[in-house]
Amino acid sequence: MNSTIAQDLSQQTLIKVEGVWFYRNDHLILKDIYLEIKEGDFLAIIGPNGAGKTTLLKIILGLLKPQKGLIKILDVERDRFTQRHLLGYVPQKATHTDTLFPICAKEVVALGLLSAKKFPKWFSHKDKSKIDSALKKVGMEEFKNVRLSHLSGGQQQRIFIARAIVNNPRILFLDEPTAGIDALAQEEFYDMLKELHNQGITIVMVTHDIGVVNKYVNKVACLNQKLVFHGTHEEFCSSPKAQELIPGEHHLVIHRH
Ligand SMILES: Nc1ncnc2c1ncn2[C@@H]1O[C@H](COP(=O)(O)OP(=O)(O)O)[C@@H](O)[C@H]1O
Ligand SMILES: [Mg+2]
Repeated sequence: MNSTIAQDLSQQTLIKVEGVWFYRNDHLILKDIYLEIKEGDFLAIIGPNGAGKTTLLKIILGLLKPQKGLIKILDVERDRFTQRHLLGYVPQKATHTDTLFPICAKEVVALGLLSAKKFPKWFSHKDKSKIDSALKKVGMEEFKNVRLSHLSGGQQQRIFIARAIVNNPRILFLDEPTAGIDALAQEEFYDMLKELHNQGITIVMVTHDIGVVNKYVNKVACLNQKLVFHGTHEEFCSSPKAQELIPGEHHLVIHRH
């Protein structure tokens, strides 16, 4: 048994997608999807526009209901899973709240705490330290009193990640998090994600960025209505079927820098 498989068997399954079918107005969007996400994965979900990537994330998060199939989170069926704070989510940029809204960085992060709070909804000292800690993890502590609209795209995205991790989730879902961020900021952004991953958070990221698949992730899923491929980064690099999905100019190399 190779070491990757041995390691995989010892890791807890966090998410199980079993035979999921999803239709919109009789139009098939996802076909018979099976997917397992294990503790410690850094999974990239790749595929063309309209492939159903965002839809799949929303189904896992319970924001959409599949017509057929099951989602299990920590072995509990999606509908009966109540520990929502264990799942952090940064949606695709277009759906973010208006960034011109007069709100500062720490208030955005505080919104993440609010969703998990029962009444009364005020912030304690403990909450404030959670907010500080989340801002520190994304390297944005010194910007906590700065208005969101005054931050760059990359910095705003870090704040949205801080909001998603403020409740200490076990998994962080990111939907095309680097869209619209310049190349240098992207590299720093991925390094920050890698650091979060090293600290123990499982990451599931929808991305068009093939470069990042090479450098950072350990698992890859290729989606195009069906799950065309799901495996380790090494298997992905040696799978002709997976490689067919990659646009011509991007070639993956197995050896990482
Ligand atoms: N709100 C919506 N209403 C109708 N069709 C939608 C809606 N959202 C997505 N779709 C369609 O569902 C399919 C999958 O979309 P999506 O999951 O967003 O794909 P991806 O994230 O891979 O680009 C696409 O054909 C898209 O046009
Ligand atoms: Mg999408």
